[in-house]
Amino acid sequence: MARILITSAIPYINGIKHLGNLVGSQLPADLFARYMRMRGHEVLFLCATDEHGTPAELAAAKAGKPVEQYCAEMHEVQAGLARGFGLSFDHFGRSSSPQNHKLTQHFAGKLDEAGLIREVTERQFYSPTDGRFLPDRYIEGTCPNCGYDRARGDQCENCTKQLDPTDLIDPRSAVSGATDLELRDSKHLYLRQSAMKDDLDAWITSKTDWPVLTTSIAKKWLHDGDGLQDRGITRDLSWGVPVMKGDAPWPGMEGKVFYVWFDAPIEYIACSLEWAEAQGLGDDAWERWWRTDKGADDVRYVQFMGKDNVPFHTLGFPVTILGSGEPWKLVDHLKSFNYLNYDGGQFSTSQGRGVFMDQALAILPSDYWRWWLLSHAPESSDSEFTWENFQVSVNKDLADVLGNFVSRITKFCRSKFGEALPEGGAPGEREAALAAELQTRLQAYEGFMEAMEVRKAAAELRAIWVAGNEYAQSAAPWTTFKTDPEMAAMQVRTGLNLIRLYAVLSAPFIPDTGARMLEAMGCEDAGWPTDVAEALNALPVGHGFTVPDVLFAKISDEDREGWQAQFAGQRKD
Ligand code: 2FM
Ligand code: ZN
Repeated sequence: MARILITSAIPYINGIKHLGNLVGSQLPADLFARYMRMRGHEVLFLCATDEHGTPAELAAAKAGKPVEQYCAEMHEVQAGLARGFGLSFDHFGRSSSPQNHKLTQHFAGKLDEAGLIREVTERQFYSPTDGRFLPDRYIEGTCPNCGYDRARGDQCENCTKQLDPTDLIDPRSAVSGATDLELRDSKHLYLRQSAMKDDLDAWITSKTDWPVLTTSIAKKWLHDGDGLQDRGITRDLSWGVPVMKGDAPWPGMEGKVFYVWFDAPIEYIACSLEWAEAQGLGDDAWERWWRTDKGADDVRYVQFMGKDNVPFHTLGFPVTILGSGEPWKLVDHLKSFNYLNYDGGQFSTSQGRGVFMDQALAILPSDYWRWWLLSHAPESSDSEFTWENFQVSVNKDLADVLGNFVSRITKFCRSKFGEALPEGGAPGEREAALAAELQTRLQAYEGFMEAMEVRKAAAELRAIWVAGNEYAQSAAPWTTFKTDPEMAAMQVRTGLNLIRLYAVLSAPFIPDTGARMLEAMGCEDAGWPTDVAEALNALPVGHGFTVPDVLFAKISDEDREGWQAQFAGQRKD
């Protein structure tokens, strides 16, 4: 049994996330967490809301609420949606927690002691119209890298380039649209990332099993242009973690806060403190996950995120960890995703484009979405959500292959033998061949799950369902019954055991359906199978079952057209 620490990139608090956000980190992280738990490993799966910085302030202002209240309310909304999608976090924390404040200030103090922080007087945009400095997202303009005209002052959403507000062409205030901006002096702290370039390079080079997407992005930031740049880690904002050196004030930094990207990854650690406190556990409980001097050397730490987050996780956060000089756990494996596009364009929170988590759950149960999203996860390239594709996948994979199999077997058994596994002949060659195929596929499935190859794992699971369907087609107990009821009974028993096996194997992808199938089979044992032939005889003769309600309803053309129209424009709240 291993110990596996899993974190998903923590979603910004500014509104409900769209399906592209979900499939880029939280959902695949959940798949992995569920799988690893089912394999008997000890898992700590953490996520939180990312509550500081300009996204939070701007959204609160738009909602006409004090930022604390806005964040508290949105945290509850996001937590509810996470539950709705079956995201099995051990804790869903908040980056605004007292634990994160303290830990962020602690890290800043340590980095300063290590000589990794320098003070810089910056020329910064000040808006006389708005009466304030305009950091990060308070500024919008044209991206100097790709020409996207709604790039934000911190990063271009289109090409992922990290930006400084002064990089933008034709900058304007995101609050008022004002363009009469002035550059004024403001003193800030910079993290000397450049001083750790060689350490980072060596560390990333050693990660030979990371996805190319991850390492290529990291290497690009290390080597392109002038190489790794030092980065400002403070802001002229009021909402955030106040700049302190540990417990002590930081002279000259009064009234400033840490940059959201400095404190957000530290929340991964702080979240484990929140978790321990919520569980009534002491410091030992979280330290064994994070402190290599307290046993965390044995932990395998896996992070999930979208590609735009990779630079912060391969460079920024590791500088914080390594630079502190303290024995904190570093990430072992970093799984990153490309973008999911929506119907010929991008999903966009700011433009309300696409399907959002609350809307998705309002029209269909979460497993429909989980299956489509995971089986189309944007791994090797961007992928695209279209309603046609969604309809085809749901109808084919879920309704025709899995749902139909479950329905046919259970209904046939009930009509001919009653609602218990019937007595009959012994398994023969066809069953042995099925078990052999499934044994091979099971091993492949496990390999893909272990390697976090999400699409390949989904394809293998689908193939496992298909094999059962093909077995049922060729064995055709409904025909066999006419001439050899004993053999038909054995085939039906095999089919019912297959349903139990599918319930277990499918649970990481479609947990609610897995639970319903297991319940229908009158079975509480969700133990992961090792020997498929054995698993196909696990439920004994006489064991009772029930016929479940339709597992997956087909999506009709009318449904699809209706949703297509409903989600064509911009989201209106
Ligand atoms: O891109 C985002 O949604 C960020 N809020 C992710 C932060 S991940 C981490 F650093 F905590
Ligand atoms: Zn760009």
